[in-house]
Amino acid sequence: MSGKVFGIGVGPGDPELLTIKAKCMLEDVAAIAYPVNRKGEDSTALEIVRGAVDVSGKRIIELLFSMDPDDRVRRKCRSDAVKELAEILEEGSDVAMVTLGDVGVYSTYTYVDEEIKNLGYETEVVPGIPSFCSGAAKARIPLMIGNEGLAVISLAKNNNSLESAFSGFENIVVMKAWNSMEILLEVMKKYGLKEDNATVISNIGMEGEYIGPIDLERKYGYFTTVIVKKRNGEEE
Ligand SMILES: C[S@@+](CC[C@H](N)C(=O)[O-])C[C@H]1O[C@@H](n2cnc3c(N)ncnc32)[C@H](O)[C@@H]1O
Repeated sequence: MSGKVFGIGVGPGDPELLTIKAKCMLEDVAAIAYPVNRKGEDSTALEIVRGAVDVSGKRIIELLFSMDPDDRVRRKCRSDAVKELAEILEEGSDVAMVTLGDVGVYSTYTYVDEEIKNLGYETEVVPGIPSFCSGAAKARIPLMIGNEGLAVISLAKNNNSLESAFSGFENIVVMKAWNSMEILLEVMKKYGLKEDNATVISNIGMEGEYIGPIDLERKYGYFTTVIVKKRNGEEE
């Protein structure tokens, strides 16, 4: 009988925020796969796992998912990764592919899940705590109250989604915001918002954690999200 792939969300950084279910499944599987953008790169998701699970005796597999702008390169990486996972499944072993935060929030696992299922193998998804929920809790920011809505967007590619989020929602979570603070401030200004409507949550649960206002002098790393609240605590 072939094995099964588990897509496991490991939370935002603190190993104590790995769910009990995720921990049990990671303890049970024979192999743990982790995605990287460049070969040999450190994996934050794998470090989180190591902080909560004894991985000795398990196969640890690096899967390369290039961020190359050429779609063909990215597709090739994906199909190589799926092939590697399928080989393990054919041996009858279960394999967990770990992802930072939650599996459903901008995660590479989503593509893998689809392709693995298309090959006829079984998969299961174990949710994790998304980074913006963890950051909001640490910053003591309610993401939404009453009948308010929340938009979660990525600032990586363009700011079209930024504009539609600001026009349609009271609360906006801007992910991948690390090198786009100027663009964000511009759009906020356009909507009559001030700097104190935004809170940066960066490296939550990791070294170099920062929770505070947008500081253009500061160098932010990739693990940076901004929470914008148009009402900023004011009642409707
Ligand atoms: C590819 S997405 C992965 C999101 C992840 N699946 C989740 O549920 O949070 C990467 C983005 O998530 C956010 N992120 C991930 N970990 C974070 C952390 N520890 N602190 C702040 N933001 C984080 C940042 O916006 C980063 O650019």
